[in-house]
Amino acid sequence: MSEMRRLGASGLEVSALGVGAWAWGDKMFWQYGTTHGREDVQAAYCASLDAGINFYDTAEIYGYGESERLLGDLSRESGRSVVIASKFAPLPYRLSAQALRPTLETTLARLKVKQLDLYQIHWPYTLIQVEDLMDALAEVVKAGLVRSVGVSNYNADEMKRAYKRLNRYGIPLASNQVQYSLLKRGPEANGVLKACQQLDVALIAYMPLEQGFLTGKYTRALPPGPRRFSPLFWRSRQARYKPLLDTIHCIAQGRGKTASQVVLNWLMCRDEHIIPIPGAKNGHQARENAGALGWSLSEEEFRRLDKASRRWLY
Ligand SMILES: NC(=O)c1ccc[n+]([C@@H]2O[C@H](COP(=O)([O-])OP(=O)(O)OC[C@H]3O[C@@H](n4cnc5c(N)ncnc54)[C@H](OP(=O)(O)O)[C@@H]3O)[C@@H](O)[C@H]2O)c1
Repeated sequence: MSEMRRLGASGLEVSALGVGAWAWGDKMFWQYGTTHGREDVQAAYCASLDAGINFYDTAEIYGYGESERLLGDLSRESGRSVVIASKFAPLPYRLSAQALRPTLETTLARLKVKQLDLYQIHWPYTLIQVEDLMDALAEVVKAGLVRSVGVSNYNADEMKRAYKRLNRYGIPLASNQVQYSLLKRGPEANGVLKACQQLDVALIAYMPLEQGFLTGKYTRALPPGPRRFSPLFWRSRQARYKPLLDTIHCIAQGRGKTASQVVLNWLMCRDEHIIPIPGAKNGHQARENAGALGWSLSEEEFRRLDKASRRWLY
């Protein structure tokens, strides 16, 4: 398994595993400042860099801009070159694609950079046509503000429309960022992975650890505080998750790896277009996740995981 991946046909190369920075600065969902603070985030960033990870994903809405600010500071302080991805949120009050350029300029100011490596549309928005958003992305590429462009949460048809429109400008669609894990295998069933393969678009897999659940550390008896009411912890559902969690655990033990490393490795082994971006709140988690690089599941192990998670293939 290659340790580097192409960001579609954009010409950019990133580590096969990235890091998601949603929890960095986010007080609403992640209790930033209580469960983890700046020092933890810095440790996560440095541990990832030291492990060869050069790809970091943020968004204007993460921590109301705080995640972008932190990531910008950390990358400048480290003095090492990384690939930073951020996202434009098509919020309901942004009624036209003209909002994109000033929003990007604010993102660049928070990151304190002149050019962003990857700018993604965070989710599709019915009030603004896909084509209009792609025109706006093409404009910021031409202006030199962005090196490559992508989308997020787009279905296969929306992706193809985005690809086609960008093609008019000779700009490749670099990526589609969607939820993808052993418990959310939609991209394999709904055509998104196939479209990524056909169009040579990277599939950036978000929530690859199901927010910690796939590591086995959260259970019905020990749920994560803020998400204890999630269906993942319903009594009626426990029997259906057990075979998958047992398989992950058994393979991890046999290989001397951790559950998170097995789960992330499965995604990377699945297809060379896939780049998982697990979140990490501290140095320990970041180091552990980075240990998903440098080895590969055997075909037999891959198949066992595939089989144990087959019911989530929809
Ligand atoms: N485009 C979109 O719409 C969208 C949506 C969601 C996320 N994303 C992106 O995807 C990234 C990843 O998603 P995510 O952070 O929500 O979920 P995730 O990667 O599945 O899970 C991350 C969480 O799992 C726990 N964790 C991480 N490493 C661990 C380890 N080695 N052992 C045990 N627990 C570990 C941590 O939470 P605890 O310490 O609290 O357990 C961490 O915050 C985000 O940061 C963001 O960049 C994008």
